[in-house]
Amino acid sequence: MLFDTHAHYYVQAFDEDRDQVLSSLPGEGVGYVLCPGCDLPTSQASIDLAEAYPFVYAAVGVHPEDALGLPEDWLDQVAALTRHPKVKAIGEIGLDYYWQEVPRDLQKEVFRAQLALARDLDLPVVVHDREAHGDSLAIVKEFPGVRGVFHCYSGSVEDAKTLVKLGWHLSFTGTITFKNARKAPEVIQAVPLERIMVETDAPYMAPTPFRGKRCDSRYVYRMAETIAQLKGLTREEVEQATTENGLRLFGIDG
Ligand code: NI
Repeated sequence: MLFDTHAHYYVQAFDEDRDQVLSSLPGEGVGYVLCPGCDLPTSQASIDLAEAYPFVYAAVGVHPEDALGLPEDWLDQVAALTRHPKVKAIGEIGLDYYWQEVPRDLQKEVFRAQLALARDLDLPVVVHDREAHGDSLAIVKEFPGVRGVFHCYSGSVEDAKTLVKLGWHLSFTGTITFKNARKAPEVIQAVPLERIMVETDAPYMAPTPFRGKRCDSRYVYRMAETIAQLKGLTREEVEQATTENGLRLFGIDG
């Protein structure tokens, strides 16, 4: 049974057939899905999906690209959303230096505020780090009690080892299946399976051989397969371990 630890099923790309796709997942070997919000409305939308499907869980939070123009009480609103029993994490939160629109100082402020909230509520976090590896690592180090996952991990082997030592998990998307993948395969070989999870980041980044198509959780087996090849394990071993890792991190009863 696979656990897709990161998929955005509220997006428009699923408006036509959302129920069809989600309803098919248990029959396709996907037993769990974590749907992270990117702002307040999509965090609520994640909760609505978690209410509708027993195998869907939600994370709530404000993504760095959505940090502009937040209401004054935004953090209270995030905190209120976490009270729902199917909210298992704060996310996705972090830093994105690829898109220049949101000032870095604001991104850091919003990231730190949500890490502090996660610490106070004892919830894990889902971190988005795009081209901001140094600052992301430095900021999570300011919150030694907070644990979670660096999703779609794209940093160095060295930083990966540091994160694992600090108690963090890393999760990997379809990019690890691409022919030109270089860093991620090295990272996967260097970190223990006990800290690795799989994800699609649906509807984005479909794995090979589905590249270019809309991505959904049915493709997450390709990430397990790729990790198995890199680590010299069977797909079943990777599937079982990554699912257990996700259940443990997010506090979900298997
Ligand atoms: Ni995402």
